[in-house]
Amino acid sequence: MAEIGMIGAGSWGTALTWLLANNGHHVTVWSAIESEIEMLKKDREHKDKLPGVKLQDDIIFTTDLAEACADKDMLVMAVPSPFTRSTARQMKPYVRYGQLIVSVAKGIEEDSLDTLSMIIDEEIQKSRVVVLCGPSHAEEVGNGMPTVVVAGSKDEDNAKYVQNVFMSEVFRVYTSTDPYGMELGAALKNVIALAAGIADGLGYGDNTKAALITRGIAEISRLGVAAGGEEATFHGLTGIGDLIVTCASKHSRNRSAGVLIGQGKSYEEAMKEVKQVVEGVYSAKSAMQLAKKYDVEIPIIEQVNAILFEGKDPKQAIFDLMCREKKEEL
Ligand SMILES: NC(=O)c1ccc[n+]([C@@H]2O[C@H](COP(=O)([O-])OP(=O)(O)OC[C@H]3O[C@@H](n4cnc5c(N)ncnc54)[C@H](O)[C@@H]3O)[C@@H](O)[C@H]2O)c1
Repeated sequence: MAEIGMIGAGSWGTALTWLLANNGHHVTVWSAIESEIEMLKKDREHKDKLPGVKLQDDIIFTTDLAEACADKDMLVMAVPSPFTRSTARQMKPYVRYGQLIVSVAKGIEEDSLDTLSMIIDEEIQKSRVVVLCGPSHAEEVGNGMPTVVVAGSKDEDNAKYVQNVFMSEVFRVYTSTDPYGMELGAALKNVIALAAGIADGLGYGDNTKAALITRGIAEISRLGVAAGGEEATFHGLTGIGDLIVTCASKHSRNRSAGVLIGQGKSYEEAMKEVKQVVEGVYSAKSAMQLAKKYDVEIPIIEQVNAILFEGKDPKQAIFDLMCREKKEEL
């Protein structure tokens, strides 16, 4: 049994807390939001973000970062990506040398172009960061539906430790030594999910969706490999696997926001309506910066940026993608 600090109590932090407690581990959950912790203490359920998933009796809920971080075998960083740096900075005084930290959020920081594990590494030096991602919606994990993900670290032993802690009969964990490629795939697929949602919002069908997924992974791989990820990673669970689930699932907030944008709403209006952080909007900008840095073509992501930030008509964006110069597929 491990002592675990769960940093962040949104949908994903809550689902992983249930999973880890179910595996027999002792979890202390932290949130920056006082009312959220009060609700979790009182109801033992996150009624807004993960209704219907009852949390086990021995879980501790706190707004005290020291309590969540001290003397833990493992910390899980589950705050949405825009809060990763500020939260890691606040955690630093309470984190011990060599602390194992599992990064489960998805994003690329604008301007620095750092992935989240890089941010944690910069803010909390001398920690050991492992990335955990793959096709995994909180609503399904919290209800014990079979899910398969990957734990990635340059150090195989760290990845194996995380694999052992998380793995169960409903949550299979593979290991990888390409955490950077995993994180790039996880962040960039959110931008393609926005495109898939936009196509849905325009009333287009399954042909369009399949094209966006397939050409989407082509451009994610092209950019990811140029940036230093391994090609095979983009064809695995954290690449094409996560892309499929995000583009197709009713649970995907990025796809849902895309649908609203395809129906004519601005991204600000869509985010308000979805009521969650739509990380693809942030990663869209970072992806453009990354593509510029490595001189890589990312036509779908480019059109998503034009729709989000330049007010381009979504129908015109799809038309422009269709009418690009003729090319060979591979
Ligand atoms: N939800 C999923 O199914 C899922 C699955 C895999 C990965 N992820 C990733 O996990 C991360 C978290 O996703 P989520 O679904 O839990 O998001 P969420 O929108 O449900 O998270 C909101 C939570 O973030 C925390 N928060 C809010 N403001 C904060 C602040 N200023 N500082 C620190 N924390 C703050 C609070 O606990 C709040 O409940 C994201 O990067 C997401 O991509 C989510």
